[in-house]
Amino acid sequence: MIHIPKAEYTRRRKALMAQMEPNSIAILPAAAVAIRNRDVEHVYRQDSDFQYLSGFPEPEAVIVLMPGRQHGEYVLFCRERNAERELWDGLRAGTEGAIRDFGADDAFPITDIDDILPGLIEGRDRVYSAMGSNAEFDRHLMEWINVIRSKAHLGAQPPNEFVALDHLLHDMRLYKSAAEVKVMREAARISCAAHVKAMQASRAGLHEFSLEAELDYEFRKGGAKMPAYGSIVATGRNSCILHYQQNDALLKDGDLVLIDAGCEIDCYASDITRTWPVNGRFSAEQKAIYEIVLASQEAAFAEIAPNKHWNQAHEATVQVITAGLVKLGLLQGDVDELIAGEAYKPFYMHRAGHWLGMDVHDVGEYKVGGEWRVLEVGMALTVEPGIYISPDNQNVAKKWRGIGVRIEDDVVVTKQGCEILTGGVPKTVAEIEALMAAAR
Ligand code: GLY
Ligand code: MN
Ligand code: MN
Repeated sequence: MIHIPKAEYTRRRKALMAQMEPNSIAILPAAAVAIRNRDVEHVYRQDSDFQYLSGFPEPEAVIVLMPGRQHGEYVLFCRERNAERELWDGLRAGTEGAIRDFGADDAFPITDIDDILPGLIEGRDRVYSAMGSNAEFDRHLMEWINVIRSKAHLGAQPPNEFVALDHLLHDMRLYKSAAEVKVMREAARISCAAHVKAMQASRAGLHEFSLEAELDYEFRKGGAKMPAYGSIVATGRNSCILHYQQNDALLKDGDLVLIDAGCEIDCYASDITRTWPVNGRFSAEQKAIYEIVLASQEAAFAEIAPNKHWNQAHEATVQVITAGLVKLGLLQGDVDELIAGEAYKPFYMHRAGHWLGMDVHDVGEYKVGGEWRVLEVGMALTVEPGIYISPDNQNVAKKWRGIGVRIEDDVVVTKQGCEILTGGVPKTVAEIEALMAAAR
């Protein structure tokens, strides 16, 4: 299995600590276990920030980073080994494993955190945490601070500055290392195979969930623990619902099916959309729309390179889509004026992409100082233009209504331009029709 090497977690912690102000401390909790119903839990997914800094896969854990601490800069609070619980729920690292296998300098039982952590915070001037994202943890943090304040008359020094950790950490996460790109390539490779499988399986009479099952099978067989987000399998008019999740409609002859799905490997997402005809042959109208979306995506790729700004790829898609809709008679008027008036928005209402990484809609600022961010080597993003003609759009001829097309790929910015991670699924009309014909 391809995964992030241990040494990279050490490097990340050191890089973060190097950016923290002198005499500070950073504190991050693991994701909580989420209850699904009664005593059934959701599949556990570690918090992305916590995972980024530790690779530690368990709940009930807290990372503490203390730059310059003599007895070790990286302290991990975690669950203790427990034969009875491990018999039921699986192995735990325990405090010894946290040091031996996960690089902690020091580890303590999570049950002792209230006794130990105030002592670690005491005397540090600043506390970095993900303020505001976890109300329960924020409350605990204030309780630990209050323990120190209550001892002020004994000379205890509570910190006097609280700093949001996100700014430093999320900027680090925006730039993908070689090891991260390797993991993202693997997630992309498996997701491509899944889309190919679903294309080959597509037939009228099946249901959307039949194709979802093909995706899940390939994801799991490839070693992915789970999809990176709820798979969208949308046929017919459902393809015009951007985040459709129901996935239970019948696949009909003559309709398109839009699949937006990707798996996650070692907590790194992939995010692919392909749209194809259920019966393997595009109709004239479906093909006309599809070709515009595809051309707009090609135009966007050409705008992804170091020193291009974030919005250029989006602007390229708007240009091609608006011109294409005019050519088909779906919009009337001058292309530049239509763009200025956002006339394309009833057909193309979302942006051309987003950052991609540990979170499918990954962290990182899109604007810096009020200006669109300039792309740099190692940034990963999606390119996902689409045209959606509402089934209720009375302004267009009936033959166009209910057609929804999105094409989405994942890219990493390179020195020369960008690397497309998800090139392994057919994309042109000819390629898709050939693959589907061969599977019949
Ligand atoms: N799958 C959600 C998105 O493409 O942004
Ligand atoms: Mn996306
Ligand atoms: Mn997507």
